[in-house]
Amino acid sequence: MKSKNKQLSSMQLELFSKEEIDYVESDDIDSIQYSVIVPPIKCQGIKTKLVPFIKKTVGRHEEGVWIEPFVGTGVVAFNMAPQKAILADKNQYIISFYQKIQSGIITPSVVRQFLEHHGNLLEQYGKKYYLEMRDNFNQNGDPLYFLFLNRSDFNGMIRFNRHGEFNVPFCQKADRFSKAYITKICNQVANIASIMSGKEWVFICSNWQDIFSYATENDYIYIDPPYIGRDTSYVGEWPEEEAIQLSKFAHETPANVCLSMWKENEFRKNEHLYKYWSDFKWFEQEHFYHIGAKEVNRHPMIELLAIKR
Ligand SMILES: C[S@@+](CC[C@H](N)C(=O)[O-])C[C@H]1O[C@@H](n2cnc3c(N)ncnc32)[C@H](O)[C@@H]1O
Repeated sequence: MKSKNKQLSSMQLELFSKEEIDYVESDDIDSIQYSVIVPPIKCQGIKTKLVPFIKKTVGRHEEGVWIEPFVGTGVVAFNMAPQKAILADKNQYIISFYQKIQSGIITPSVVRQFLEHHGNLLEQYGKKYYLEMRDNFNQNGDPLYFLFLNRSDFNGMIRFNRHGEFNVPFCQKADRFSKAYITKICNQVANIASIMSGKEWVFICSNWQDIFSYATENDYIYIDPPYIGRDTSYVGEWPEEEAIQLSKFAHETPANVCLSMWKENEFRKNEHLYKYWSDFKWFEQEHFYHIGAKEVNRHPMIELLAIKR
């Protein structure tokens, strides 16, 4: 088990760019042995800190197609960097953002211009401007507006109400888009554009069920569904029946499958795993999460990768 008080050594820190350090907690010694690509989009449940564990456990996937029906921010795909991939999510704004990077419509300079312009107005008008951008986004669905909101909202959350309207509150920092912050986001866009370049990647907005039908024996499906028993309001409902259906699809597909899921914390175990995924091979990693900023509110969580074969 890892010591809670381990500090990053200067050598370990050098493995990360300044931008990446934001997303690597100091206790996460494993993740600093690798350089982790950090995507421009954030979301709750982002697997940045588990990337080294996922890479180590899954290994390189050279043959077949890497398939992610719940791609989210894309952090796993960007770090696995397979030659062929089908990357899907029901969040159309994330998918359209990545499609537009892939086709060269959204570039680092487009992002810079957009964030500088709207960032200045945010600094002038604060929360009122954030809410105006949110209303506009809920009318126009523009992925650049989505990026703006995602990078200036509360905790980088993604959440929609039952009418499909984005409803995350403002982070309360009017000067959110400093020059350094915009540069960091532009570098993240540039990094992932270069990772995608020359690869056969398809981004699809779809329900996960349809994505399973693309899989053949040589393919590898990485599934990171919304967590059962935890807040899933950012994606709409994730009912128990759908989680059970996912297990059925994972067992029936000819492809290999890796499920990412929380296993247990101090308070509870994820019973669903024992019921529906116990015949997969289990690999565990402990990590810590914070509720608030205080050290006493630092809680261990066991994360699981369950692999079919
Ligand atoms: C836990 S997040 C994935 C996080 C991702 N691995 C990452 O590190 O960024 C779950 C994702 O599932 C997507 N999702 C939820 N329900 C879905 C459905 N029925 N079909 C496809 N995607 C869905 C959400 O939009 C969200 O992006």
